[in-house]
Amino acid sequence: MKMTMLDKLYKPDGKRLNVLITGRPGSGKSYFIKHTLLAFNKKWKDPNGRIIYIDPKLEVDLGEDTMTDLEGLEKHLQKNRIAVIYPHTEYVEEETEATIQMIYDIQDANPDFKAVILIDDAQTFLESTRQAPYQLKRLALTGRSKNLRMVGVAHMMVFNKSLEGSISYLVNFTMPVKLYHRDAMVRYGFDAKEYADELSQTPYSFVWFDVTAGTSRLMAPIDVKGESAQERKGQTEPVDTQGKQSRKRDTDA
Ligand SMILES: Nc1ncnc2c1ncn2[C@@H]1O[C@H](COP(=O)(O)OP(=O)(O)OP(=O)(O)O)[C@@H](O)[C@H]1O
Ligand SMILES: [Mg+2]
Repeated sequence: MKMTMLDKLYKPDGKRLNVLITGRPGSGKSYFIKHTLLAFNKKWKDPNGRIIYIDPKLEVDLGEDTMTDLEGLEKHLQKNRIAVIYPHTEYVEEETEATIQMIYDIQDANPDFKAVILIDDAQTFLESTRQAPYQLKRLALTGRSKNLRMVGVAHMMVFNKSLEGSISYLVNFTMPVKLYHRDAMVRYGFDAKEYADELSQTPYSFVWFDVTAGTSRLMAPIDVKGESAQERKGQTEPVDTQGKQSRKRDTDA
């Protein structure tokens, strides 16, 4: 995968907004994150940059010296670039909130501090209809000005209404439920239906959708180096069945 795409996914650059990664259980979201994140980490040279991964499923392994907990986070980040937190199963929301608050506190004390904060399986505690909890909303809405970026993961297109306005990119894995296709169109102008067959035929493939530009691109599954090849290169403009503005293919993902 090109560095530009890794940057678009993870780099807290004070410009790009947040990322939402969607797809049904087992569609490849966590695998994608793990390998693209490690690829990004290898290339990202900013000495003030940190990666914080909150994993409610207690699954991810990003290697040596990456595991910590809320109490140890600040100290851990002084010495290590990557912090993985397994929140207590009964208090995922509270621990996520406290983690974000701590990151803001660290940032306040160290203006050069930058971080990308990944929240895997956010649907385990984040309801789509309720207001997002305070710190999460703060991160989604004001993180950019502090060089803090959020990457959220969910099973559905409907993430949380109060966070959806601040999303720059969607990474959409297979999600074969028609209702979600409609949500994707209504909320992001993303025509998920157009890709539904291909996504379900090729396991772990995904669509990259640039929300701002309205461009989409089908991508092959990533390998362990975090690389993905683009598919359907020669494809022409998709037909827009919704009658809205027609979308272009993304050309530099
Ligand atoms: N690109 C890939 N190449 C090979 N195997 C993959 C790939 N992506 C995912 N897998 C395998 O598929 C399984 C499910 O993937 P993963 O855990 O990433 O799903 P998920 O979307 O995070 O699911 P959930 O929503 O339940 O957390 C894993 O065992 C993983 O090793
Ligand atoms: Mg997962």
